[in-house]
Amino acid sequence: MKKPLIIGNWKANPKSIKEAKALLKLTEKLITRTKNSYGYAVPDAFLFPLKEEKPRGMLGAQTIGTKEDGAHTGESSASMISSVGGTFTLLGHSEIRALGETDESINAKIKSTYQEGLYSVVCVGEKSRDNHGTYLKHIEEQLKKSLHEIPGEWCEKLAIAYEPIWAIGADTSATPEQCFEVVIVIRRTLAALFGMAYAKKVCVLYGGTVTKNNAESFLVEGGADGLLIGRTSLDPKAFASIVTTTYATIS
Ligand code: PGA
Repeated sequence: MKKPLIIGNWKANPKSIKEAKALLKLTEKLITRTKNSYGYAVPDAFLFPLKEEKPRGMLGAQTIGTKEDGAHTGESSASMISSVGGTFTLLGHSEIRALGETDESINAKIKSTYQEGLYSVVCVGEKSRDNHGTYLKHIEEQLKKSLHEIPGEWCEKLAIAYEPIWAIGADTSATPEQCFEVVIVIRRTLAALFGMAYAKKVCVLYGGTVTKNNAESFLVEGGADGLLIGRTSLDPKAFASIVTTTYATIS
């Protein structure tokens, strides 16, 4: 089993750089021992000042612009993110897809992140479930389109986050069994696209109402290699405990 990769998605939080530094410092202080890979996907405005705090965890963006530079109001390119200390970016989070992000634009973004040496964490997931497995086909389709013509060598810089939209910001998460079913579909699709040897390099994460109490179940019974954590990443104690204890159990 790979060592878990745990990423906190701060979304548009907290309100100021002062609070962001305090959140980072306290979380880092509470992560006392871990060999896990972990990181924080933070608002672009906080990347550079947080990098100056020299956290052990990676820092990354929550999306990037489609184009490199030029007349693209409001966008930050992969090279800009990299130049202020970002080492990864989330792509295709459902909250960004809701604003018009498509699998095709995600595909273009994976290319620019790779060219800048950043990791891409590509989010996929269904709005709702049905009894005919349509949601599984939807996820397969999202993967095929967003990874279209991506070379197998790039798998080293790629993670896939399974985030069922109905479980994001919700009261309850998916069950580990529901997670497991989709993790298998994701791994099978990756193997078909890249071949087994490359596909194995891709971390498959679970995200959607991960808490201190359920985190481990997605890794142990759910078959995921890691977690993408929203609200709970804003709670230093809980996030630090997940980063620390999952390592202790899995490794
Ligand atoms: P949540 O968010 O953990 O608050 O459900 C997860 C996400 O949107 O990445």
